[in-house]
Amino acid sequence: MWGGRYASGPSAVMQQINASIDFDRRLFAQDIAGSKAHCRMLVDQGLVGAEDGAAIQDGLDRILKEIEAGTFEFKAALEDIHLNIESRLAALIGDAAGRLHTARSRNDQVATDIRLWVRDAIDGLDGQMRTLQAALIDKAERHAATVMPGFTHLQPAQPVTFGHHLLAYVAMLGRDRGRLADCRKRANESPLGAAALAGTSFAIDRHATAAALGFDAPMENSIDAVSARDFALEFLAALSISAIHLSRFAEEIVLWCTPQYGFLRLSDAFTTGSSIMPQKRNPDAAELVRAKAGRIVGALTGLLIVLKGLPLAYGKDMQEDKEPVFDAADSLSLSLAAMAGMVTDMEVDEAAMEKALLDGFPTATDLADWLVRTLGMPFRQAHHATGRIVALAEQRGCRLADLPLDAMQQVEAGISKDIYSVLTNAASVGSRTSFGGTAPVRVREAVKAARERYL
Ligand code: ARG
Repeated sequence: MWGGRYASGPSAVMQQINASIDFDRRLFAQDIAGSKAHCRMLVDQGLVGAEDGAAIQDGLDRILKEIEAGTFEFKAALEDIHLNIESRLAALIGDAAGRLHTARSRNDQVATDIRLWVRDAIDGLDGQMRTLQAALIDKAERHAATVMPGFTHLQPAQPVTFGHHLLAYVAMLGRDRGRLADCRKRANESPLGAAALAGTSFAIDRHATAAALGFDAPMENSIDAVSARDFALEFLAALSISAIHLSRFAEEIVLWCTPQYGFLRLSDAFTTGSSIMPQKRNPDAAELVRAKAGRIVGALTGLLIVLKGLPLAYGKDMQEDKEPVFDAADSLSLSLAAMAGMVTDMEVDEAAMEKALLDGFPTATDLADWLVRTLGMPFRQAHHATGRIVALAEQRGCRLADLPLDAMQQVEAGISKDIYSVLTNAASVGSRTSFGGTAPVRVREAVKAARERYL
């Protein structure tokens, strides 16, 4: 491979540590697209003859078909995807194959391939996030008026609608998609033509290859072009944040499927049984989504550390960028698919949600707000009076709505029977009509707005 200077091949361990073909074969389509664009440009610039150029194009097309058909033989001795394809091209078309690498290095080649791959992955993940948003929005519409306890500190806080809770994840996914779009914008510049690091003495046209590959522009500095991997870091950071979002939702699914909550039920399609306890129905898919966040964040920290202190321009260290990028993309893709499946599959137990609202005095804030609104009390004073009323209800073991009027009047003489109108859960959620609030009317509006914005 290394021409005149090398008399013997690598040791077995050298080959093992050096070869990347087992994982970078995933770049075959991007590698061939990059080579075809480079070859066309070389011909157009008069750097390669038209006949050789045509033979190269034809050979690359054949190699693409061989790889897609599974008949291509990948060889570890040929190190990576670039040399595997180049070697096969030589076998197919002979000496003309050697002209393809004019004004190019594997350094700009691999940087181009991985950018193209990340760009495709972003487009795929964006579509999957949109699909999950669509599933959430449909569920949210159906449950725009389904009341459940909203939690802070995992303690019952105030009644909310289940639809409103689901739309919180739609908003998070909207920002996740925005982060991917930002990353795509910065990643979409072409390193091709930077060659090893310094550019080339041949009269190439980097603008032409950039345009042919759908890049917005050639990268402005050849040293940066081959050594930059911040696009991969941004990609992994965006995936990490999204994975964290999914893990929070997954944890809620796990909790809510327990008999203690009983808010949700997943079907046989998204649960597993136990080999010893016949009653079990375990939410394994949700647990695995919760766990995948670990490896995705691991991919980000792993690559950050690979790049830390790495001198410019190219170092073989950078070959270690691929596995974390591939693994994180695969893991998030699977997580998004599993979440979309679970959201569609989940059955909501409205009675269990209602029942959970019996505990924890979730309409205490509504009582305090009534004191402010009706009696003109400062909120802090109303908060104190409500606390005393809650204590009375606690002593009697009853809900606020069941506390007799005279008991409340002991605390605050101005309270009238109108107070009961704000103590039901339906009244509570119905009253929260502020923009972005949980009232069913607002949730229905938000569903409509989300469809327009995201779908
Ligand atoms: N397989 C290598 C990588 O993934 C390709 C670039 C090799 N360049 C070099 N100068 N050895 O980074």
